[in-house]
Amino acid sequence: MELNQEQKEMLEGKHGDPKKKAMEILVQLGEIYGAKRMVPITSVHMAGSSVVVAGKAGTKLVEQMAAQGGEFVPVTTLNSGACDMASPGVIGFPEDLVKMQERLTNAYCEMGAISYHSCTPYYSDNVPKPGAHVAWGESSAIIFANSVLGARTNREGGPTGLAAALTGYVPEYGFHLDENRRGQVLVKVEEVPTDINEFGTLGYYVGQICGDRVPVFLGIEKAKMDELKMLGAALASSGACALFHIVGLTPEAPTLEAAMGGLEPEQEVIYGLEQKREAMAKLNKAPNDHVDMVVIGCPHASISELQAIAELFKTRRVKKGIQVWILTPVTTKALAERMGLVKIIEEAGAQIVCDTCIILAPMKEVMAKDGLSSVSTNSAKLAHYAPGQWGFNVHYGSLERCIESAVTGRWK
Ligand code: F3S
Repeated sequence: MELNQEQKEMLEGKHGDPKKKAMEILVQLGEIYGAKRMVPITSVHMAGSSVVVAGKAGTKLVEQMAAQGGEFVPVTTLNSGACDMASPGVIGFPEDLVKMQERLTNAYCEMGAISYHSCTPYYSDNVPKPGAHVAWGESSAIIFANSVLGARTNREGGPTGLAAALTGYVPEYGFHLDENRRGQVLVKVEEVPTDINEFGTLGYYVGQICGDRVPVFLGIEKAKMDELKMLGAALASSGACALFHIVGLTPEAPTLEAAMGGLEPEQEVIYGLEQKREAMAKLNKAPNDHVDMVVIGCPHASISELQAIAELFKTRRVKKGIQVWILTPVTTKALAERMGLVKIIEEAGAQIVCDTCIILAPMKEVMAKDGLSSVSTNSAKLAHYAPGQWGFNVHYGSLERCIESAVTGRWK
C-alpha cells in the first residue's frame, strides 16, 4: 500500500508506540482488502466502549495505549457502555463491572475521547460533513453516517476504531469508494410507514432480503430524522446493511439514477400491507400478554421522542412491579430536565437511563435479580436481538402500545 511520509514515520515508531501499533493494524487491514492508500478521517465513533464487549483484555489494551501517551487525532465519541455512569446503583449493575467500565471510559477520555456513551453520536458534536471519511462503529450509527449524513465509513470494530482514532487514518476500501455506494436492491414502498416504529418494521423486512447489499427506497421521501434512525437500525439488524438511499431525500439519491449509479437494480422488492404484517409477526415472539419491562430508545431516544413519551405519561402511571427504561444520551437527558420532561416521566414511574442499553449492559444479572422475562419495545432492532442475547420474550409495537403495556402490565 502506498503510504505518505507521516504514515511511514508512524509505522517506523517515530510518533510513539501507540501510533506504531495502530498503523500496523491499519496497514494489515488495508492489505487484506486491497486498499491502495490511506485516507484522513474527521471522526471516530468507538465500538468497543462497553466492558461487556471489550472485556478485561480490551480494557487493558486501551489503558496501555493511554499510559504510553496515545492521543486521538479526530473527534472521537464513545458508543453505549455497560451501565449508567451517573447512577449505576439505581439499576443495580454489578459493582466490579461498574469499576471496570469507569477504567475503560477514563482511558479513552485520557486520549481525547468525548465521554458521550451513546449509539447516536450525531446528536452530539460528532456530525461529519457529507463526503467526509470517518471510522464509526455500532451498526445503527454506521448506517446513519453513510446514508443520512452522506459520510463514508466501513463497519469499524473496537481495535480498528482505536487504530483509526490514534492515527487519524483508515485504509481506503469498501464504503470509502464510490463504486461500493451505489444501490443494488430497489424497494417500492406501497405501505408508507406512519411512525418510527413502522419505519423499523420496514427496515426489518427489507434487511432480511438485502443482506449486505444497498437498498434504494422509493416512496418515503418525507421520512424524518428519528424515522431514518429507526429504519437504518432495523436494516442493520435483520440484514448487514451499512448504507441505504431514499430517492428524493438522502444526500446521494437526488434521483433514482444517481442512487443506482446508473445501473439496473439486482432485485426489486414491493413492501405492502402483507409484508408489514409478516415482519410484525416475526418480531412479536412473546407466548402470552405478560409484560415485566418496557424499553424505549434503541437507538437512544431524541428530545422529540422524550417529548412524545412525556405526553403519554402526563396522566398515567406505570403499574407497580413493571420496569420502564427510557434510553437516551446524557446530553438529551439534561435538555429534557430543563424542559420538565424528566420530572413527568420519572413521576409516572419510568426511569431515564443514559450511557447504556439492554443489549450492552449485563442484563443477565439484572433479569435474575428482578425476575424479568418479557419486554415490550417499539424498536425493531431491540425486538430482533433481545430474545437471542438474553432470552427475553418480546412484544413489539408502537410507542402508544408500549406505554399502555407499562400502565396495565399486559400487551394488548
Ligand atoms: Fe443503541 Fe443499544 Fe440499541 S447501542 S442501537 S440502544 S442495542
